[in-house]
Amino acid sequence: MLNFEFYNPTKIIFGKDQLHKLSKEIPQSSKILMVYGGGSIFKNGVYDKVKSALNGFEVLEFGGVEPNPYYETLMKAVEIINKEKIDFVLAVGGGSVIDGVKFIVAAVAYQGNPLDILYRKHRPVKALPFGTVLTLPATGSEMNSGSVVSIKATQEKLSFGSEVTFPKFSFCDPTVIISLPRRQIQNGVIDAFSHVLEQYLTYKHDAVLQDKISESILKTLIEVGPKVAENPNDYVLASDFMWCCTMALNGLISKGVPTDWVTHMIGHELTALYGIDHARTLAIIFPSLYRVMFDSKKEKLAQLGKEVFGLSGNDDEAAQQTILELEKFFHTMGMKTKIHQNTTEDISKTADFIKDRFEKRRVSVMGEKQNITLDKIKEIVSLSY
Ligand code: NZQ
Ligand code: ZN
Repeated sequence: MLNFEFYNPTKIIFGKDQLHKLSKEIPQSSKILMVYGGGSIFKNGVYDKVKSALNGFEVLEFGGVEPNPYYETLMKAVEIINKEKIDFVLAVGGGSVIDGVKFIVAAVAYQGNPLDILYRKHRPVKALPFGTVLTLPATGSEMNSGSVVSIKATQEKLSFGSEVTFPKFSFCDPTVIISLPRRQIQNGVIDAFSHVLEQYLTYKHDAVLQDKISESILKTLIEVGPKVAENPNDYVLASDFMWCCTMALNGLISKGVPTDWVTHMIGHELTALYGIDHARTLAIIFPSLYRVMFDSKKEKLAQLGKEVFGLSGNDDEAAQQTILELEKFFHTMGMKTKIHQNTTEDISKTADFIKDRFEKRRVSVMGEKQNITLDKIKEIVSLSY
């Protein structure tokens, strides 16, 4: 196993009807900014529940954080916090709202240009404290320090994170998925599944427990994913789904092992260019990446096939079959695995554009073996058209 440090200070409060505990988690007499998205919380009752749980606190509100949150929108919340002397921020929403709040609390505490955080010229060392009420299981943002923010002006989607951007607490109530459109549940399953792949599907190593935890999360998602998309009212399914999402990206399974993350890097570009849902970009890129990088990843592909999809036979054949099994699972979960099936825009220059973007950011090699070159990126994207 590789050396590692594991730090995760987020308290998870899991289960239904737990919001009465919210007021105990926030320092007394805090002035709170409650941040939310486009309004789903008004329709499903989450807004009312949170507001009544915050009875006694002074609460201001900031709504309208978009999916794939925009820097330009988030800076308006930064202004409010400075003007109103807010001490605590509460994110009520999915990954976009939580990520948005991570940026807001870091930007408020930074004297320089907030864009430095997104361009990674400044790693946050201070942030306003914040907690979350999760409404969409998918990203794991409720228990990690990462955040992805889009810049409207430049059509970029950039990530950052630091020790100070972990939530203090997250309320994870599986019943929130009842009001989710099926498309978002499907996205959640595939995003979590993808997070495990990025941290598992690299090369053979000796961290046996890490592999077995990852395989268990993948198997659980394959088992409950299709069912929970059809039966979001089933609390047992919803609980397993929600906990899988958190466990897939709370830092645990990446410890002591190599990680990849190139599918996410390319996927963010597809969202920035065409507005394709995050999870759907991943379902497009994984099969192509595994085909282009087949020799480099075939041992782990074969292991995935045998341990998770129940395949047998020699490694080469099992590895090839695993890619087909993955596509089959993505299709079962409602994904369309080619770019042209997800946008009506002209996509003919996408591969060159994305290669160019990475080049401008001075990224030349990527992946667990640092062997995914810019030419390979172009090949992967072209194969995904
Ligand atoms: O904005 P509202 O009206 O709330 O509607 C949202 C939004 O339209 C809706 N929704 C959320 N909870 C709901 C609900 N609708 C009905 N009932 C509920 N209970 O769902 C839509 C999508 O929400 P969003 O937050 O955008 O989805 P998700 O949680 O998938 O987050 C995606 C964002 O997270 C980033 C992605 O890149 C993307 O920007 N990621 C963050 C990561 C992290 N912080 O660790 C890792 C991921 O890989 C990912 O990159
Ligand atoms: Zn993701």
